[in-house]
Amino acid sequence: MKKIELKGKTILVTGAAGFIGAHLVMRLLKEEEARIVGIDDLNDYYDVELKKHRLELVADTAEKTSSAWIFEEASISDRDGLRKIFDTYDPAVVVNLAAQAGVRYSISHPDPYIETNINGFYYILEECRRSKTEGRGFEYLVYASSSSVYGDNSEIPYKVEDPVDKPVSLYAATKKSNELMAHAYSKLYGLPVCGLRFFTVYGPAGRPDMAYFGFTDKLIAGKTIDIFNYGNCKRDFTYVDDVTKGVSLVIKKAPEESEAGPAYALYNIGNSSPVDLMEFIEILGEELIKAGVLPEDFDMKAHERLLPMQPGDVPVTYADTSALQRDYGYSPSTDLRKGLSEFAGWYKRYYCK
Ligand SMILES: NC(=O)c1ccc[n+]([C@@H]2O[C@H](COP(=O)([O-])OP(=O)(O)OC[C@H]3O[C@@H](n4cnc5c(N)ncnc54)[C@H](O)[C@@H]3O)[C@@H](O)[C@H]2O)c1
Repeated sequence: MKKIELKGKTILVTGAAGFIGAHLVMRLLKEEEARIVGIDDLNDYYDVELKKHRLELVADTAEKTSSAWIFEEASISDRDGLRKIFDTYDPAVVVNLAAQAGVRYSISHPDPYIETNINGFYYILEECRRSKTEGRGFEYLVYASSSSVYGDNSEIPYKVEDPVDKPVSLYAATKKSNELMAHAYSKLYGLPVCGLRFFTVYGPAGRPDMAYFGFTDKLIAGKTIDIFNYGNCKRDFTYVDDVTKGVSLVIKKAPEESEAGPAYALYNIGNSSPVDLMEFIEILGEELIKAGVLPEDFDMKAHERLLPMQPGDVPVTYADTSALQRDYGYSPSTDLRKGLSEFAGWYKRYYCK
């Protein structure tokens, strides 16, 4: 593997106002002596104020560090705009997190998945190729894939080598397409590229469309939460800091071309200890009560409704992280209670002022 020196270079993070993007930028600002350029189109798939709040957290962090932070409101699906970003900042490392996320939304609103996850990702690859072939700064592309590519594979834990050609949602199909496109560009143009399959990421300033966040909103409003597949569901819940730690290690060491294939790699970043959804909800409830988000005498069970499985959902996600451990000496391990306590504390500060 090839060491990537980040000192004095530019790291471009797309989707920087997003949940994982903002947490990643804060980590990079604290840990690297690099210039961090973030772009995001600030679309309204969910509350734009939350994206702006994250950018404020990033700006506060940037003020306390010596690293440079630049944000531009821009879309990866705008080919000319993206070209200008590459021409202006000449990034050495590109971390592509911008995407239309969400499995269920891809069933009702397929267009943005194609515009951003397919076209936008293609433009990212093209800009990396252009920078490399013109002998400019590009050295390494790291991009977000997803555990959803495993579809309803029955063999667990999920290994990166497992066949993943039977997606059960358009979202998963776009993420699998990214992996194929990235491999082709790596092979054709010698681009060092690494894909990271994230597993159900949670934490402070998270995504309101994800179950734990939506549950919290509903419980506060005194509403009932819908638990699909009658709660028979296991998820490899991964704390956001564990994900950004993994990304920060991966961007410092790139795959190299060899007889075995191009400079292309793929890793799972997941907690590798799936938790029963009902246990997750129980701990979430306890931590919300502890943080003062819910009253002490709150009756969780009275607010739960068990329902059948939803289209596109999968009953279990479980990451085999041995490849990440082997190549980067790292596996996520934050305890669920600690992670949910951080989420509950942030929720209280942000929403229950
Ligand atoms: N959170 C998870 O559990 C999870 C799991 C697997 C994979 N992922 C992937 O990780 C990445 C980050 O996810 P997240 O949870 O932070 O989601 P997020 O929606 O919070 O962040 C994505 C950001 O990208 C931005 N964006 C969307 N389209 C864009 C475009 N065309 N141009 C520029 N910006 C655009 C959005 O405004 C948003 O701020 C995504 O690629 C997602 O698919 C996330």
